[in-house]
Amino acid sequence: MKPNIDLADADLKKVATLLNALLADEYVLYTKTQHSHWNIQGPNFMELHKFFEMQYNQLAHVVDEVAERIRVLGVLAKGTLKDFLAVTHLKEDSSDFTDQKKIIQALIEDHEAIVRNIRTDIIPVTDGCKDIGTTDFVTKLAGQHETMAWMLRAYVA
Ligand SMILES: [Fe+2]
Repeated sequence: MKPNIDLADADLKKVATLLNALLADEYVLYTKTQHSHWNIQGPNFMELHKFFEMQYNQLAHVVDEVAERIRVLGVLAKGTLKDFLAVTHLKEDSSDFTDQKKIIQALIEDHEAIVRNIRTDIIPVTDGCKDIGTTDFVTKLAGQHETMAWMLRAYVA
């Protein structure tokens, strides 16, 4: 059954398509953060190992929330790695993990890219069709990414 929340079918689909791309971005960033947790090296290994674990756990929760917001709109959430890679705005990274600053910088750029995507691509659409639930959801999500990016920046300041 479709949600009866005074949103046209076309608008529900348009918003859900944007959210499925956001879901892909979150999943790629979750994976990249966990990849960093596994392979980071250096004298501060344990500090960064634990820090990345904190962030990938937070991102795992975000992934789940984005997928469930898509379901709230009555649309199926994407859930295969192939689908995620087809629509993500982010690039996977096969870094050799010898340069800590480079690893952290790549994660910062991904968080910032997600914030920009929310502000410039998603919110104009959700505002345009008065999808206040999604606007509120992604606004808070942008704030979470800004906080995660700040914590990463503090390591390379
Ligand atoms: Fe672990």
